[in-house]
Amino acid sequence: MLYRKYRPQTFAQVVGQEHVVKTLKGALSTGRIGHAYLFTGPRGTGKTTLARIFAKALNCAKRDKDGDPDNSCPSCLTTNEGRSLDLIEIDAASNRGIDEIRNLKESALVAAPSGGYKVFVIDEVHMLTKDAFNALLKILEEPPSHVVFVLATTEPHKILPTVLSRVQRFDFRRLTPSQIFTKLKEVAMAEKINIEDEGLKAIAVSSDGALRDAEVSLSKLRSYQGKITVDDVTSALGLVPFRYHSEFMGYLVADDKVSALNFIQRIHESGVDLEHFTKDFIEYVRRVLMFKINPAVLTAIGEESVQNWQIDGSKLVKIMNLFISARNEIKTSPVVQLPLELAVLELLQP
Ligand SMILES: Nc1ncnc2c1ncn2[C@@H]1O[C@H](COP(=O)(O)OP(=O)(O)OP(=O)(O)O)[C@@H](O)[C@H]1O
Ligand SMILES: [Mg+2]
Ligand SMILES: [Zn+2]
Repeated sequence: MLYRKYRPQTFAQVVGQEHVVKTLKGALSTGRIGHAYLFTGPRGTGKTTLARIFAKALNCAKRDKDGDPDNSCPSCLTTNEGRSLDLIEIDAASNRGIDEIRNLKESALVAAPSGGYKVFVIDEVHMLTKDAFNALLKILEEPPSHVVFVLATTEPHKILPTVLSRVQRFDFRRLTPSQIFTKLKEVAMAEKINIEDEGLKAIAVSSDGALRDAEVSLSKLRSYQGKITVDDVTSALGLVPFRYHSEFMGYLVADDKVSALNFIQRIHESGVDLEHFTKDFIEYVRRVLMFKINPAVLTAIGEESVQNWQIDGSKLVKIMNLFISARNEIKTSPVVQLPLELAVLELLQP
């Protein structure tokens, strides 16, 4: 899988998350290492990756002045091969109970074999049972000095306040489409995947800020022969092509009922998932509206067509409301196209 091959091995290779990188490097250079960190944020944005780099840097024999691990000393090598005894990764989704945390506690009390730091990364920490959480809390109250915990979760609201008060929290951000695009382009070049930029943009926009999802999508296209086009990408990934949104919008703006209804029928027949289309279309209309309110919100990628519409804000709001309801009704409608058709008719009634 490409996403494993291209997992960053140094702070410098991490895309975005500058606030996290800066603080972790600061801790390394001043030697003020916390005992417990909480990494929260959407999936596929670098939580596990940064936990591993930090663990590696803590025990690296030849860390550079920027705080980056050298990836060639014995400690780094064993960590990169996944057999370090100083880095213990626990998936709380499958080890949820009190016994696991008791084992962890015993292990935490024993010094690291190398004499350095022992780093426990607990992934999906919100999945722990209440008892296990309380046991973890006990350890966090009096952590052995050579131990560092990195708790990771996509659902920070499920973490108890008593735990939150004992950890240093970092909120990871969704990566922007252009950050994802740049990384995908590097990977595509390195792997000699021949794909047009528009195709990479389509992947970047569709992956909702998660770089791993984007890299997984790129992996799926690897076996294509010849130059991979944006249409190859949308059909392989089941995406709705960007141009559909502006095409449909055009009919609504022009009050062209017949073309709008034909369009719905046509994309339905071509295999587009109408619920998915409607979701993306609502997002598209939202961007048109945001652009009207404040043109500075336009980000450079995949949004070129939002700026051209001559339509007033109240009609945009009406479109959104109608299509939000239509989307909810698609699941239960006896005819899938019907909710969208009714939304069109209601919007464009004389
Ligand atoms: N910020 C990033 N910079 C560079 N690569 C990244 C970044 N975030 C994710 N990736 C890519 O995605 C892969 C998965 O990232 P990682 O495991 O760190 O995500 P995560 O935040 O821990 O996700 P999850 O919540 O699903 O565990 C990495 O191997 C890497 O290829
Ligand atoms: Mg992870
Ligand atoms: Zn090293």
